[in-house]
Amino acid sequence: MARILITSALPYINGIKHLGNLVGSQLPADLYARYMRARGHEVMFICATDEHGTPAELAAAKAGKAVEAYCTEMHAVQTELAKGFALSFDHYGRSSSARNYALTQHLAARLGAAGLIEEVSEKQVYSNADGRFLPDRYIEGTCPNCGYERARGDQCENCTKQLDPTDLINPRSAISGSTDLEVRDTKHLFLRQSKLRDTLDQWIDRQQGWPVLTTSIAKKWLHDGDGLQDRGITRDLDWGVPVQFDGAPWRGMDGKVFYVWFDAPIEYIAATAEWADANGLDDAAWRRWWRTDEGADDVRYVQFMGKDNVPFHTLSFPATLIGSGEPWKLVDYIKSFNYLNYDGGQFSTSQGRGVFMDQALGLLPADYWRWWLLSHAPENNDSEFTWENFQASVNKDLADVLGNLVSRVTKFCRAKFGEVVPEGGSYGVREDQLIQALGARLRAYEQHMEAMEVRKSAAELRALWVLGNEYLQEAAPWSVYKTDPDMAAAQIRLSLNLIRFYAIVSQPFIPQATSKIMASLGCTDWTWPSELTSALDRLETGHSFEVPDVLFAKMTDDQRQEWAAQFAGERRDA
Ligand code: MF3
Ligand code: ZN
Repeated sequence: MARILITSALPYINGIKHLGNLVGSQLPADLYARYMRARGHEVMFICATDEHGTPAELAAAKAGKAVEAYCTEMHAVQTELAKGFALSFDHYGRSSSARNYALTQHLAARLGAAGLIEEVSEKQVYSNADGRFLPDRYIEGTCPNCGYERARGDQCENCTKQLDPTDLINPRSAISGSTDLEVRDTKHLFLRQSKLRDTLDQWIDRQQGWPVLTTSIAKKWLHDGDGLQDRGITRDLDWGVPVQFDGAPWRGMDGKVFYVWFDAPIEYIAATAEWADANGLDDAAWRRWWRTDEGADDVRYVQFMGKDNVPFHTLSFPATLIGSGEPWKLVDYIKSFNYLNYDGGQFSTSQGRGVFMDQALGLLPADYWRWWLLSHAPENNDSEFTWENFQASVNKDLADVLGNLVSRVTKFCRAKFGEVVPEGGSYGVREDQLIQALGARLRAYEQHMEAMEVRKSAAELRALWVLGNEYLQEAAPWSVYKTDPDMAAAQIRLSLNLIRFYAIVSQPFIPQATSKIMASLGCTDWTWPSELTSALDRLETGHSFEVPDVLFAKMTDDQRQEWAAQFAGERRDA
């Protein structure tokens, strides 16, 4: 039994995530966590909301709420949606937790003590009316290039020209509108990543099994241009982890917070501490996952994320952990994803384009979405959601193949033998062949799941379902019954066990439907069917079951057209 630590990139707190976000980290991470648990491994699956930074402040302001209250509310919303999609986090934390404040400050102090933090003086715009420094996008004014009057300090939205706040004509505060602005000297902390370049380079060279995509992104940042740049890790914002704290090795940093990308990955660790707190456990309980001197050298740590997150996880976060000089567990494998597109364009949060998690659950149960998203995961290329494709997958894979098998077998049994596993007969050549074919495919499925090959796993699982259907079609117990009811009983006995087998192996993909199946089979034994022959004997003669309700309803053409139209434009309630 191995110990596996799994983290999914932390979703930003502002707004509800779309299906593209979901399939880019949380959902495949859940698939892997469920699979590893099913195989008997000890799993710690961690996620959290990423709550700091300008976008959170701006979204709160837009909603007319205090940022803290806004984050608390949105965290609750995202927690419910995660449950709705059956994401099996051991803990869903918050990057604004006391644990993350403490750990972020601790690691920053360690980096400071190691000489890896530099204090840099800069000139920055200060608003007297607001009593604070203004980050670039909090300053508005007229674009010197095109005359657009609402250009932001970092960029003009109208002509896309990149700007410095001091370029703006008639600059004003985006918070209060005040024009009483001045340029003041201010200090920021920079993480001297460049000093860690060789260490990071060697660490990456040791990661043998990493996908080329991941290592090449990291290597590019290490060696292109000036190599790994030192990076400002503080910001002039109210909301975030305070830079000035008791025992900080620097002074004069009041009113500043750490940059969101500095504290967010640290929350992977802090959320595990939150997990221990929530379960009344001591610090040793979470430290054995994260401190190599306290047991974590046995842990295999896998991270899931979209490709845009890769540099932060291959360089910045390892720089923080290695630079601290403490024995923190570093990532062993990074599984990254391309983008999912929506019907000929991109999913877009800002434009409300595509299907969002809450809307999806309003249309169909989670498993329908889980199955489509995972079986079309954007692994080697971007992939695209279309309503036609979604309908075809749901109707063929879920309704016609898996759902139909379950319903045909259980109903036929009820009609001829009652709701019990029938007695009599014995398996013949066809049954042995089926068991052999299942065994070969099961091993392929296991290998793909192990390797986090999500699409290949889905294809293999579907092929397992198809084998059962073909068997049933050829064995045809409904005709055999007329001449040889004993043989038909043996076939149905095997088929009922086959349904249980499918429930167990499909559970990581479609956990809700498979729970329904197991409940109707009256079975609580989810042991992985490594021993196929005995697994297919588990429901013994005389064991009673109930015919389940329809597992997967077919999606009609009317539904498809209605939904395609409904989701063609922008989200209206956003
Ligand atoms: N919130 C970021 C995003 O959605 C991901 C943060 S991952 C972590 O792109 F490493 F910071 F936690
Ligand atoms: Zn402009």
